[in-house]
Amino acid sequence: MTILVTGGTGYIGSHTVVQLLEAGHEVLVLDNLCNSKAQVIDRITKIAGKAPGFIEGDVRDRALLKQLFAKHPIETVIHFAGLKSVAECGQKPLLYYDNNVSGSIVLFEEMKNAGVKSIVFSSSATVYGEPVFLPYTEAHPLKPINVYGHSKLMVEQVLQDLALSDRAWKVALLRYFNPVGAHHSGLIGEDPAGIPNNLMPFVAQVAVGKRAKLSVFGDDYDTKDGTGVRDYIHVDDLASGHLAALQYLQKNQGVLTVNLGTGQGTSVFELIHAFEKAANKKIPYEVVARRAGDLPEYYADAVYSKTALDWQAQHGIDRMCVDTWRWQSQNPNGFGQ
Ligand code: NAD
Ligand code: WQD
Repeated sequence: MTILVTGGTGYIGSHTVVQLLEAGHEVLVLDNLCNSKAQVIDRITKIAGKAPGFIEGDVRDRALLKQLFAKHPIETVIHFAGLKSVAECGQKPLLYYDNNVSGSIVLFEEMKNAGVKSIVFSSSATVYGEPVFLPYTEAHPLKPINVYGHSKLMVEQVLQDLALSDRAWKVALLRYFNPVGAHHSGLIGEDPAGIPNNLMPFVAQVAVGKRAKLSVFGDDYDTKDGTGVRDYIHVDDLASGHLAALQYLQKNQGVLTVNLGTGQGTSVFELIHAFEKAANKKIPYEVVARRAGDLPEYYADAVYSKTALDWQAQHGIDRMCVDTWRWQSQNPNGFGQ
């Protein structure tokens, strides 16, 4: 039986495909390469010693999906495909809703038509919005504050209602916190297009000399050192969380909603210091104004992921920085050579 991985040449998808292959699964990747490169397939193959199938295409392409389900014995779908830029989504709402929501609905319809009713969905902690309490538990109110978070919550709702309409559906909604790091081989990692929006890839590009200095978006928050606090989780921990969710779905029906985080909050200054230790380099930075839309602090309550999936994150911030630095220093220009 085969696992269809949409968005499988992307950052989190590629790391998950490696672990799926290493666990002996047959994997088929569908990706339109709007935010990744086909070269990732070669890197995955080199790491895992086995190649996934790869189809370049869009989850919105109904005819293509019909062909895939007719031709391949797909038992489960892991749905990573989506646009994720919080900075961009507000200016391009129709693109985000079409890609993330309509694309998901087309996928779910063709899964239903093919009798494939098992899915792991990439959701996000952004569905929670402003913290009413911390750490975020899965029961925290759901009030996203941007188009991207709304798109994720909409897809969660579609899957909840689909499972209500047909008890045969098995659904895992995984709410990721802040994925960072890279595979320990240094062969795959995060390769953002253009100027990185996110902290860790920006710090890594400063360290490798691609950026002059880091702008720290505010040091006057009511947090441990005034800078923003986040729950960074190693991408390999995130990947293993998906394998745990697959195992859960093999034994359970209905909908599982679970945070994938470490339960630990790390500040911007703490991450900078950890990265300086990992790279043995100073990271030049300048404190500037806060970034609009940033929350001061959020991190996961990681208890339920342990209870439900018997899974918990293994790696701390130091390992996240060491692995990021290995990837960045070995691939100064990402996959672009
Ligand atoms: P990514 O951009 O590296 O990977 C997404 C992949 O999906 C890319 O390879 C892209 O080419 C592909 N894609 C996008 N739209 C597609 C479409 N219509 N058809 C086919 N392929 C398409 O992003 P990532 O960081 O790996 O994130 C994977 C998923 O996890 C996304 O859905 C994202 O919203 C979610 N997520 C990411 C984070 C994060 O901080 N990275 C946090 C929470 C949730
Ligand atoms: C982390 C901290 C910034 C960049 C985003 C998305 C979220 C999810 C994960 C998809 C904050 C500070 C950052 C910089 C800085 N993605 N920072 N200088 O904003 O917590 O979450 O990625 O689901 O949806 O919102 O991550 O890495 O952008 O910021 O000072 O150049 O680093 O203020 O405190 P964020 P981030």
